[in-house]
Order: sequence, then C-alpha cells, then structure tokens
Amino acid sequence: MQEELNNLKNQAIAAIMEAKSVAELEQIRIDYLGRNGKITTEIKKIKKLKPDEKKNVGRLINEAMSTLAKTLAEQKLSFSQSAKHWFDATIPGEKPALGHLHLVTQAAAEVTAIFEKIGFTRVRYPEVEWDWYAFEALNMPQGHPARDEWETFFINLPEDKKYGKVVLTPHTSSGQIREMERVKARPPIRMINIAKCYRRQSDATHVPMFHQFEGLVVDKGINITNLKGTLDYFGKKLYGSKSVSRIRPFNFKFTEPSFEVDFRCVHCDGKGCKFCKSGWHEVGGAGMVHPNVLKAGGIDPGVYSGFAFGWGLERVYLLKPGLNINDIRTVYRTNLAYLEQL
Ligand code: FA5
Repeated sequence: MQEELNNLKNQAIAAIMEAKSVAELEQIRIDYLGRNGKITTEIKKIKKLKPDEKKNVGRLINEAMSTLAKTLAEQKLSFSQSAKHWFDATIPGEKPALGHLHLVTQAAAEVTAIFEKIGFTRVRYPEVEWDWYAFEALNMPQGHPARDEWETFFINLPEDKKYGKVVLTPHTSSGQIREMERVKARPPIRMINIAKCYRRQSDATHVPMFHQFEGLVVDKGINITNLKGTLDYFGKKLYGSKSVSRIRPFNFKFTEPSFEVDFRCVHCDGKGCKFCKSGWHEVGGAGMVHPNVLKAGGIDPGVYSGFAFGWGLERVYLLKPGLNINDIRTVYRTNLAYLEQL
C-alpha cells in the first residue's frame, strides 16, 4: 500500500507540472484530493489495516495530501504571476537615459591626452595642502605680499612647525615641490598636474572652486625655447593649426623670468572682436623654475633647469571655438537643460 501511495503522489505531481491552465489544476485536485479522489479513497482503506500499519500509512497519506496541496498552490501562483509579467518580445525595449561627462571632465581628459603625446605624465597631489607646498617652498615666505593674490581659504587645524598652516590649495603649483620630492633629486620630470583649486573669488571669470593644469619640466639644459615650443604645440592641438601663442613679461615669485601666456583669438585671427577685444586671450602664467624652488624640492639648480606653467582649465577650454561661454559660473550651475548641451 505504501508503494501504491507513492506512485499516486508521483503521478499527481507529474500531472500538476504538465498542466497548462488553472482549470486543469482544479481537475487534478478533484481527481486526487476530491471526495472520491484517488488519494482520498486510500483513507477509507486504513480501517482494514493492522494497528501498527495504520499509523504509518496515515502519516504517508497526510504527507502526500499536503505535498500535493502545496504543489497545486505554487503552480497556480506561477500561472497568475506569468500572466501579470507577460510581455511582447517584439516591442522595442526602452532605452535608459544616457548622460555624458561634465565639460570640465572632458576638458581634463583632452588636456591630459595632448600632453601625454609629448611624454608628460598626469599626476595628482593633495587638494588640502600645507602652506609650505602652496607658498613657502615656492619662494613666498610668511607675510610676503605676493601671497595676497591667491586669496586663500585656511583650514582650522593646528599649525605644523615646518609645514605651517593647512590650506585649500589655491593653485596647482603646490604640486611642483611634491613632484620634485617624488623623483628624489633625480630628474627628468615631465608632469601635468590637473586639480581643483580654491580662492575667495566669484565673478564672470572667477569661481571659488576651479581647476588648473600645471606643467613642470625639469632636466639638464631646459630653456625658454622649450617652454615656447610646448605652448605652441598645445595651442595648435586644442585650438587648431592656426593657433599662435605669445608670452609677456610678468612677475611670479617661483619663476624667473616669468611670463603671462596669451593665445591669439581663433574667432578673429587676432584682429580684435567682441569676444576677445584685444585680439588675444590670456590663459595663465609660466616661467623658468626659480633656483630657490628647485633647491626647496631637493634638486641642484647648478645641474638642472626647468620650466613651469599653470593655467585655468575652465578658462582655456571655454575659449575653444564653438563653446562661446563668457560666464564661467554657468558651467557650475546645476542646470541640466544647459549642461546637456555642452
Ligand atoms: C597662478 O596660479 C600660478 N600658479 C600660475 C603659474 C604656474 C605661473 C607656474 C608660473 C609658473 P594665476 O593666479 O594667474 O597664476 O592663475 C592662473 C590662471 O588660473 C588664471 O589665468 C585663470 O585662468 C585661472 N584662475 C585663477 N583664479 C581663478 C578663479 N577664481 N576662477 C577660475 N579660474 C581662475
């Protein structure tokens, strides 16, 4: 009888699995568990069994009945769920909305690629920096008036005896000394440091958080022509083959001589237009690394020389033909309708 019961149970389960509709499932339930069902009929036979068999068979029948009831319920549920999730595989799928990289991230990638082609390596140095790296080691001692230009944010943390106060780095030049320390007095250096910078400024051409990219090259026999050649190369790659760069004398404490760098306006080819006014766009500073800075970075200025330049990433990129953005602040407003076009 036990074998008979097992066979009945297995038959019923097979029938449930093959059923194609709820109506078929109901018929199976009636056939096996209904008043005159195949398993229900087995209950009637218990009476005729010996007492010790009764208990065993009773347990088996209960177990078979509950297994079938559970399997029937599960199968019924799966029918109703697949009805809800039914879909037409021929309907085209919904495409997820795709964003794109922010203009500044695109700019950093493009500038990096241009310099990598001529052997520069992109590096990253701290945004929260010691006064030493941002000023002192760059030939700007405590209290020097040149520091005022950098309108610095100070962090309220204890001062260090050697490194001084903690600042939000106001320019990427702080990475110059860190890079010199990294090579442990053994150039060559060809670094491109692109990072966030912070100053207490806000108007159409200034934001409190902006990006600079800093180039630093240190080796034996580096001179101004190497600097000028690098500027020209960069301009032609970013602005097009007609681009021309110009350097004008300036004063930075960490370079000697120092220059301001301009690129000729690509809209009017230097004639002067409403976009540039003078025919030229200023992008930032440059110069030959001051011997005191090389010394602070542990490099012998008697053997090595170098050039450096540091420019606003947003400023340089917004001058590209086709962008025509004359208020830098718009780049940092979270207006998606505007940013999606960039
Ligand atoms: C410097 O920061 C120097 N460290 C550059 C340098 C590096 C000179 C290496 C020599 C050798 P300056 O303060 O002029 O220089 O800033 C350079 C450029 O950063 C500016 O021309 C401008 O394009 C950008 N910049 C400066 N402040 C802001 C600001 N608040 N918002 C957006 N861009 C800024």
